[in-house]
Amino acid sequence: MELPILQLQDVDYIYLDKFPALANINLDVNSGERVCILGANGSGKSTLLKILNAIAFPSNGIVKAFGQSLKENILEGGEFSRYFRQRVGFVFQDPDVQLFSATVEDEIAFGPLQLDIAKDEVEKRVDDLLQMLGIAALKHRPPYSISGGEKKKVAIASVLANNPDVLLLDEPTNGLDPRTQVWLIELLEGLSDAGKTIIIATHDLSLAADISDRVVVLNEGHKIAADGNTMDILGNRKLLLEVNLIHEHAHRHGETVHVHSHGPFADHEHEKEK
Ligand SMILES: Nc1ncnc2c1ncn2[C@@H]1O[C@H](COP(=O)(O)OP(=O)(O)OP(=O)(O)O)[C@@H](O)[C@H]1O
Ligand SMILES: [Mg+2]
Repeated sequence: MELPILQLQDVDYIYLDKFPALANINLDVNSGERVCILGANGSGKSTLLKILNAIAFPSNGIVKAFGQSLKENILEGGEFSRYFRQRVGFVFQDPDVQLFSATVEDEIAFGPLQLDIAKDEVEKRVDDLLQMLGIAALKHRPPYSISGGEKKKVAIASVLANNPDVLLLDEPTNGLDPRTQVWLIELLEGLSDAGKTIIIATHDLSLAADISDRVVVLNEGHKIAADGNTMDILGNRKLLLEVNLIHEHAHRHGETVHVHSHGPFADHEHEKEK
């Protein structure tokens, strides 16, 4: 049997010794899976992705990637570090954290140049990505001077430029206009069909429905509340209410009391006022 490419065993993460972010996480991801990490604000989604990208290391427990235990020293250069960085790409929740180059062009070219890809091939990749994302006009602009959604596109392009096998995306559709969101979902589907592993953190249930086969739900205690088939989990209203991914409140419309569950799978129950 094929080994999972990413494995977390009994992982806890605590910021500054006092702010828990992940508790007792056990998670295996196989090559080619499309997984959404769902959870309310503060549940630990971003922290989990940072651990999978080896930019944060667990307070307790073990993380393995491609069968190798991820410890800080193993990623300080050397062969495995290079292998890992080439295979795993991470789009941060906040593009301001990710973008650092003088121009959009340099930003997208940075990764492939680090990987010693020939300069003319890098130029071609950059131009292709600029075209694909509809941001060719930004090529020579400094990333700090462009809009939030444009920054997000540059951040996505800079990760795609490395052609990683595993894509970790933290709230990838945040800040994107509807047309670009649809484009991104289609792109991710295409990458998935090509065999890439895709892991997305989001609290957007419709994004999870569109792009994942498997959902891992984090609760507000930073634990895994559920891990399973996307449609089964998105159909579990009780679970989604418990973890605050949908909410319910009652208010009056004239004669009736109207109970809403808010979310893409919301149902509406109308009760005649007693
Ligand atoms: N730098 C930090 N210092 C201290 N606590 C932090 C830090 N970053 C995150 N936390 C805490 O860790 C917990 C998990 O945060 P995380 O950012 O992983 O959540 P999230 O699920 O990504 O939330 P969101 O949906 O808002 O992006 C939260 O309680 C948060 O307050
Ligand atoms: Mg987050």
